[in-house]
Amino acid sequence: MNTPICDFVREYEKKHTLRLHMPGHKGEELLGPEKYDITEIDGADVLYRANGIIAESQKNASVLFGSKKTLYSTEGSSLCIRAMLFLVKAYAVKNGRGAVIAAGRNAHKVFMTAAALLDIDVRWLKGNSREILSCEITAEYLDRYLQSADEKPAAVYITSPDYLGNLSDIKGLAEVCGRHSVLLIVDNAHGAYLNFLDENKHPLHLGAHMCCDSAHKTLPALTGGAYLHIGENAPVFFSENAENALSMFSSTSPSYLILQSLDKVNEYLADGYKQKLNEFVRSVLQLKKKLQENGYSLTGAEPLKICIRTKPYGYTGEELGNILKEKNAVCEFYDKDFCVLMLSVQNGKEGIAELEKILCSVPKKEEIKALPPEIPEGKSRISMKEALFSVSEYLPTQECEGKILASPCVSCPPAVPIAVCGDVITKELTECFKYYNIDTLCVVK
Ligand SMILES: Cc1ncc(COP(=O)(O)O)c(C=O)c1O
Repeated sequence: MNTPICDFVREYEKKHTLRLHMPGHKGEELLGPEKYDITEIDGADVLYRANGIIAESQKNASVLFGSKKTLYSTEGSSLCIRAMLFLVKAYAVKNGRGAVIAAGRNAHKVFMTAAALLDIDVRWLKGNSREILSCEITAEYLDRYLQSADEKPAAVYITSPDYLGNLSDIKGLAEVCGRHSVLLIVDNAHGAYLNFLDENKHPLHLGAHMCCDSAHKTLPALTGGAYLHIGENAPVFFSENAENALSMFSSTSPSYLILQSLDKVNEYLADGYKQKLNEFVRSVLQLKKKLQENGYSLTGAEPLKICIRTKPYGYTGEELGNILKEKNAVCEFYDKDFCVLMLSVQNGKEGIAELEKILCSVPKKEEIKALPPEIPEGKSRISMKEALFSVSEYLPTQECEGKILASPCVSCPPAVPIAVCGDVITKELTECFKYYNIDTLCVVK
């Protein structure tokens, strides 16, 4: 597969042109990659008004992912989420429907802030899960919800895979959404690679109308590289307006290093990735089996994540994360209950062998019985938008009981808000924040 963006930049670099344009480094090395870092000069195309090398590269990505249209983001899935919500709202308004989205409660905080900024009415779906990071929405659950909803949402928004490696039944959910004439939008930030499994598990393939993938999370792309995919089944309005939607929230100076990275990833994906991935996944499966035989308790069916529920093995997630760090291995995320390891083909079989050695050298101890607190049902006092735009202050969590949460107050990872902006902070909520080491909250003044 060709790499038009990389080719253009390499040609440009070879000519040692007098650079009378941004960026100010003029291609001179300070960090290292400056010579390949250009801006939207003649011939370099314009992201979100693309009809040259960027359009050609995006078309390559679209063919690889089987989408109707794929657009690049150099600002992660975060940008794509804002654009997806804008498209859903604009389409709902155009069709005389309310801007209502029913969303799994484990949505990333960008979903919450984007919905607030766009004045979208969010109906939270709590699902069947006890954990804040998961939210099992089954097809039956969604069907029941849509049958009884006072106002039918314009779209259902699902986060799959979630941080704990759980995959939703996208096919079943898409079928239910289809029956109720509701769009299905998926945050697939963690699942770009799912498209290349022997059994394709990518949300677009399973019937979602639109999704975002962070290429940088599971593919060998630079941080910030992501895709907005629009499915063949999506309204034409989405593909006609997606570039405009992305440009509304994005920088006017896209990173050409990231664009080249996404361009190069196309070539990588087209050149035997599927086989490499599926072989690697088989090795990860074997490792998971060995870890379970060793007494580890694992959650989630996502092939490239190893999510350890650590307390049954006698450690908190933090303790296991720190043990790994001492052994020069850094995990993606830990809290008191979980330690999440993210793998990619780039770890190789050697990486798997090293990980097995490290984890199997950790002695099993007596189970820690304490369970995480159950996240209480939110009690909304004001809208998310009112809360976000309110005059606010930061206070120690223990002083916040009775106050209203102004902003999500969670960092990344995992960036899943424990409470919704606008909710009153109850005693139980305070306990949850404390459990997750959030000792300062932003509350309405
Ligand atoms: C589920 C989920 N969605 C969206 C995002 C945002 O993705 P990005 O970092 O590519 O902007 C993240 C980031 O961690 C995430 O975990």
